[in-house]
Amino acid sequence: MDLQGKVAVVTGSGRGLGLAYARALAAAGAAVVVNDIDADVADAAVRAITADGGKAVGVVAAVGDSEAAEQLTEAAVREFGRLDVLVTNAGILRDRVLWKMTDDDFDSVVKVHLRGTFTCARAAAVRMREQGEGGRLILISSPAGQRGNFGQTNYAAAKAGIVAMARTWALELARAGITVNAVVPVAATAMTKTIPAFAPAIEEAERTGAPLPDWLRKDEGLGTVDDVAGLITFLASDTAKDVTGQAIGIGGDRLALWAHPTETAVAFADGGWSADAIGERWHDGVGAEPQTYGIPAPKAPEA
Ligand SMILES: NC(=O)c1ccc[n+]([C@@H]2O[C@H](COP(=O)([O-])OP(=O)(O)OC[C@H]3O[C@@H](n4cnc5c(N)ncnc54)[C@H](O)[C@@H]3O)[C@@H](O)[C@H]2O)c1
Repeated sequence: MDLQGKVAVVTGSGRGLGLAYARALAAAGAAVVVNDIDADVADAAVRAITADGGKAVGVVAAVGDSEAAEQLTEAAVREFGRLDVLVTNAGILRDRVLWKMTDDDFDSVVKVHLRGTFTCARAAAVRMREQGEGGRLILISSPAGQRGNFGQTNYAAAKAGIVAMARTWALELARAGITVNAVVPVAATAMTKTIPAFAPAIEEAERTGAPLPDWLRKDEGLGTVDDVAGLITFLASDTAKDVTGQAIGIGGDRLALWAHPTETAVAFADGGWSADAIGERWHDGVGAEPQTYGIPAPKAPEA
């Protein structure tokens, strides 16, 4: 896929998935603004991309506030003349159960993921609308945001909010030709290595250099960071010009479209529902088949 002449910003792209996205976009011909809070990994990423013959510049800034967002858009315009693609990938985890989660745990995660996505997308949308040639906002969500996840009040809330913003901005930016999609990735990174069900297989694959087993790549959609990058390049390309407002899952051998939340059971009561009427009819009515919640625990096949 050819991204020659396009300019992309990828937040949190010093390591992990963001680095894979930045490298893939650059390999397809885009000039890339690499961003991270960690200057060492940002520099290394720029060096790696330029060593491969790509165009990249680094901006060390903490995504969250509007100043960082402005800095990223300005760097794209100053260094490469324009901005076509924004990938809001920067993220942190501060996992704790609700009754132990501090205000700071909550605020810091929401600030990077939710506020960072908002501020960066707003700055990018202003620039893309001025350019008048459309654009791409690619927002990074998570299965936790779709389903809820134990210990992730802050993260699940932020990631669910990101999908809601994608659906909202897809409406608002359609006339400007700017597509907005949410990506729901899964990949073996520092983040996922801590999940007990995944850890042994990831460690084994790292030790031997062998690919992750089939059940992880297919059933759990868990693979390498490079397995996710193809979707980012596709969404950035002209081929995806009519793909917008979607939440798209990818990982390992798996590509998936997440459903838009919808009513699965509906009942009517003339004049409205009293508490007693709901109580009488709940278990045989709309509550007869309750929805699942939480990410199903990964299960290795019996040996
Ligand atoms: N790894 C997975 O399976 C998975 C699954 C679902 C969603 N995600 C999401 O994908 C994104 C990347 O995840 P990863 O696993 O590569 O994580 P990672 O921790 O390997 O990389 C995240 C990068 O973001 C940087 N960063 C953190 N805060 C920042 C800030 N305020 N400003 C700029 N940079 C900042 C970090 O320094 C780091 O280099 C995150 O948004 C994460 O929530 C990952």
